[in-house]
Amino acid sequence: MGSKLVGCGSAVPKLTISNDDLSQIVETSDEWISVRTGIGNRRGLTGNETLSGLAVEAAKGALQKAQVEPDDVDLEIMCTSTPDDLFGCGARVQRDLGCKNAWAFDATAACSGFVVGLVTATRFIKGGGFQNVLVIGADALSRYVDWTDRGTCILFGDAAGAVLVQACSSEEDGLLGFDFHSDGHGQKHLNATVKDGETELISNNGAPLFPPKRSSFSCIQMNGKEVFRFAVRCVPQSIEAALLEAGLTSSSIDWLLLHQANQRIIDAVATRLQMPPNKVISNLANYGNTSAASIPLALDEAVRSGKVQAGNTIAAAGFGAGVTWGCAILRW
Ligand code: ACO
Repeated sequence: MGSKLVGCGSAVPKLTISNDDLSQIVETSDEWISVRTGIGNRRGLTGNETLSGLAVEAAKGALQKAQVEPDDVDLEIMCTSTPDDLFGCGARVQRDLGCKNAWAFDATAACSGFVVGLVTATRFIKGGGFQNVLVIGADALSRYVDWTDRGTCILFGDAAGAVLVQACSSEEDGLLGFDFHSDGHGQKHLNATVKDGETELISNNGAPLFPPKRSSFSCIQMNGKEVFRFAVRCVPQSIEAALLEAGLTSSSIDWLLLHQANQRIIDAVATRLQMPPNKVISNLANYGNTSAASIPLALDEAVRSGKVQAGNTIAAAGFGAGVTWGCAILRW
């Protein structure tokens, strides 16, 4: 049994935040941000907008393109690190999509989340019993950004993207190879950890009677240089490993589609793989780093613009907090 991608969709919040807007609140400039990151604008959730709402919109687009009815979805994997609810929001998205025959769960792997979800979907299909699996990558890192930290607040944006993965014959299989890694030693370079809480009920001898309330996370803390080095070192190796499994080389890839974190990372990885700029997908300038959403968002734009066409081979690679990284070689 194989699996193929048969539709994609995406959604972004209404509010656009430009580099000039950011230079009003931190000491930075459009020039610095553009040159160091390639980012020009990013979107942010405001008012009544929710991450689940974005995910539903993106998933509806994918279902429509795939011409699949919500009733025919068997499984929905909601890849996010920033759910609307501590307990996840996959089921809420499933409810709002009307996928009443599907079950849903959340998967957390930060900016690698979408690629992890995609490969997980293909494994469920391969195991049997699943025909249509929705994979959604959605994140709202704006919720955990310290708007006084110019080293991080310039990078992130909110968005959602989705694909429908469908069962097919092994000859048509659209997942040609994959490779995944994680290394908790890198967690110190990029994190948003549970805040320390104060114990309120203490016994007479000073020992806590109950655990403290720790119901919030710190803002994103990042050592940008280390994250940059990690990405440029590990991502090309992972792509090469996935290509090897697929029996391909970088010269046979039509598109390099990396997690959109920094244009300099994208350029460095493309150079290592000897991939020319016209084979590299990038929409970072408009949306910044949208974490688990960045790959399906860029894929959806590239499909809609006619860049990515049926039969094209794509190396899709995610990397980020954890740290985690990995690559899937796909045939569109
Ligand atoms: N505007 C102006 N100056 C700035 C800004 C800013 N926004 N941010 C930092 N600077 C200053 C620094 O203070 C420093 O000044 P100094 O030389 O006087 O000390 C100088 O610019 C250089 O700072 P660096 O941190 O060395 O700049 P660098 O070239 O490394 O760029 C950046 C920083 C853009 C963050 C880069 O390191 C990067 O993109 N790293 C990867 C980050 C990333 O992709 N993270 C997400 C991973 S995915 C996930 O899971 C969420």
